[in-house]
Amino acid sequence: MRNPFLAFSLIKKTWLFAVIILGSMMFQGLYAGNGMGESTYNEHCSGCHGGGFLGWLSGAPEIGNMEEWKPFFEKGVEKMKANALKGVGRMDPKGGCDKCSDEDVEMAVDYILSKTPQ
Ligand code: HEC
Repeated sequence: MRNPFLAFSLIKKTWLFAVIILGSMMFQGLYAGNGMGESTYNEHCSGCHGGGFLGWLSGAPEIGNMEEWKPFFEKGVEKMKANALKGVGRMDPKGGCDKCSDEDVEMAVDYILSKTPQ
């Protein structure tokens, strides 16, 4: 590159481009919302809340089954989230997922409730 100023401005443009791409990727990650709740649920909650043997054994309310969730709904969603975070009955804090953040668990609760018509 003969002209050092031209080279400089090209680098600046490349940086700007990289920042915009990275920024929008982070933005998407933050606002993926339900998608993330779904993957947390599939990985860490469905074992018990998806019915099946563990669900039966632990007595966890099953996703999509309003009869079983009714008593929990009556406490209110905020209370359910708080209980899911600190553990309740036979469920460990955060459903046993130590590496899940509070937000992960709350989004997983939202996911379960979104699949359970009231
Ligand atoms: C080891 C099995 C097990 C796993 C794994 C598990 N749960 Fe539970 N969960 C239970 C059981 C059992 C209950 C009923 C607790 C009770 O009242 O005795 C329950 C209750 C709940 C409730 C209602 C809380 C209340 O009392 O208000 C929510 C919400 C919930 N679970 C969300 C989740 C989420 C989100 C995950 C995954 C991050 C998860 N659970 C993973 C067994 C499990």
